[in-house]
Amino acid sequence: MKTVEASASGKIILFGEHAVVYHRPAIAVPVADVRAQASLRPTVEDEFRILAPDLDRDYLFTQAAADDPLASIVRLTLKKLGESNPPAATLMVSSTIPLGRGLGSGAAISAAVVRALADFFGQVLSPADISALVYEVEKIYHGTPSGIDNTVIAYEQPVFFIKGRPIQQMRVSQPFGLVVGDTGVVAPTHRVVGNLRRLWQADRERYEGYFDEIGAIAHQARVAIENDLVDITVIGKLMNQNQELLERIGVSSPALERLIDAARGAGALGAKLSGAGGGGNMIALVPSQPAMAASVTQALMEAGATATILTGVRED
Ligand code: MEV
Repeated sequence: MKTVEASASGKIILFGEHAVVYHRPAIAVPVADVRAQASLRPTVEDEFRILAPDLDRDYLFTQAAADDPLASIVRLTLKKLGESNPPAATLMVSSTIPLGRGLGSGAAISAAVVRALADFFGQVLSPADISALVYEVEKIYHGTPSGIDNTVIAYEQPVFFIKGRPIQQMRVSQPFGLVVGDTGVVAPTHRVVGNLRRLWQADRERYEGYFDEIGAIAHQARVAIENDLVDITVIGKLMNQNQELLERIGVSSPALERLIDAARGAGALGAKLSGAGGGGNMIALVPSQPAMAASVTQALMEAGATATILTGVRED
């Protein structure tokens, strides 16, 4: 057995987060500039060890708690691969995706582990298989995941996603840049999703109305992204409209809004939170010219962003 390495990208939700849990469409893109890595190194000891230095964890698979996310994805993947025993190996995971900030860190780590294990046993799993395995672990974390994170990360392609429906890949007809700004605030997805669910249960009509509006924005955004006759400023305006609705459903935060205002003030064509919100990251749309990206990045840092990432969504 040889040492194998695998990775998976982070993800950015461009439109439709939260409403996607309630079966409205959402658009997400992979962000290859930050990645999770998993390696499997064979050992002479007959044991399977899991090392996650970023999380300060080092433990044996056999001693992991029943709901341990890394042990869970290993268990599910071994079953899928038809392997009854874990390999005599050390699994090491690491990630440059900030944890708990809406960039899909958990799903990316799971996807990298699935890919590494499949490779270790000389098998190939399809993106659909990888996505389904990662989804099982996402469910342990937050009960009602839409499945968008595991889908975009497993396929590593822009997706137009509706919960429970076959994935629709998206064409990007003109490139654009995104500056991601981190509030530095960790907001667990299950908590933000759970709070919103309680609000929805108390006043379904009102929240269903908001979700309909967000879904309509996602549809318009798809047309704008797929059609190069539509000016890129339209995408920015739709991002701003989506943000307004995210504020109304209570998933934004003062720290996010400070960064969003700063990005718009520096000339971004649009800005909104991305992912679960409550903290985490925001995104700002910039044309594919370095000058605008630099001034938006600087404005975000001055407004208190703890980190920024410049990434691009490219034509296919
Ligand atoms: C989290 O990345 C996106 C949410 O819409 C939750 C989900 O889709 O499961 C907030």
